[in-house]
Amino acid sequence: MNSKDIYILGIESSCDDTAAAVIHNGTVLSNVVATQEIHQEYGGVVPELASRAHQQNIVPVVHQALHKANIDKKQLSAIAFTRGPGLMGSLLVGTSFAKSLAFGLDIPLIDVNHMQAHILAHFIKAEGQTAPNFPFLAMTISGGHTQIVKVTDYFEMEVIGQTLDDAVGEAFDKSAKILGLPYPGGPLIDKYAQEGNPKAFKFPKPKVGPLDFSFSGLKTSVLYFVEKETNQNPSFVQENMKDICASLQHTIVSYLMDKLKNAVKQTGITEVAIGGGVSANSGIRKALQQAQTNKGWKTHIPKFEYCTDNAAMIAMVGELKFKNQLYAKTDVTAQARMELGKS
Ligand code: KG4
Ligand code: ZN
Repeated sequence: MNSKDIYILGIESSCDDTAAAVIHNGTVLSNVVATQEIHQEYGGVVPELASRAHQQNIVPVVHQALHKANIDKKQLSAIAFTRGPGLMGSLLVGTSFAKSLAFGLDIPLIDVNHMQAHILAHFIKAEGQTAPNFPFLAMTISGGHTQIVKVTDYFEMEVIGQTLDDAVGEAFDKSAKILGLPYPGGPLIDKYAQEGNPKAFKFPKPKVGPLDFSFSGLKTSVLYFVEKETNQNPSFVQENMKDICASLQHTIVSYLMDKLKNAVKQTGITEVAIGGGVSANSGIRKALQQAQTNKGWKTHIPKFEYCTDNAAMIAMVGELKFKNQLYAKTDVTAQARMELGKS
């Protein structure tokens, strides 16, 4: 093995995906994700069930990641794990596992902030993916977060706008639940939206500060709208599913784009990246591509597998931290709440 060869195992267990990946000098060798199906029955993530499933999944998932990467664990340079933010019981599984493995192999342990990883996923070397130049704006849109971040360097990030209540992924998922769709409803709304009329119905865009977001009112307006229409026609939702989804998606995407435009105006930065599960949404991807053509922004959209929760992004941050010898202390613990830029 060349001494310049860096092999990092990344472990992600912050919510309901148990994931492990191996990265070698910026290139992903394996990226394994076990999505927990059990939560579908409950219409949302049940924390206690999530941590139990992580316990069951973690050993086979890590084993598979090493096997697919075709390396032995003795070749690993370091182990990177998600320290937070996320569900405490879930985080503890990945944290304890990573600590034990790093200790057993006598290699460095690296703690990673999940939100920072969604942003730095753009630095993974992959076909069709170009690394952003500093400074750039990153909009992280997921089931747990909605933020606009000014990224000055790998480890220098400032949150300049965020949601005051629900995350955008929650807005998708909760609206989907009202429409009778299974959890997580975001991808289903996206699927129906592609065949519907985005102007069929009108939903209000919540008014807050120029860079902030609010989604709880939108969910309520979807609920009232559905209740009102269903009173007159019990099969209204089934008959209009595509148009409702298209209209809802149109409202959310144009709201996200309004905020990004405000951020570009305020900072003068025109290089823009998105990350997090909702960046898999076809509407936001299309809107960003249009902004690249019409507004001259330089935009970065991650590959699908690096949008939703994955361990390749954790391994990527691990590699960057490893090069800077930013290791975790042996008494490191999981942290459910974690600020960006302060980790
Ligand atoms: O980043 P992620 O995998 O997990 C969190 O850290 O939250 O994001 C999951 C969220 C869910 O709310 C899911 O509904 C949403 O991302 N999502 C989508 C799409 N794919 C995933 N929302 C809208 N359109 C999609 N295509
Ligand atoms: Zn995430």
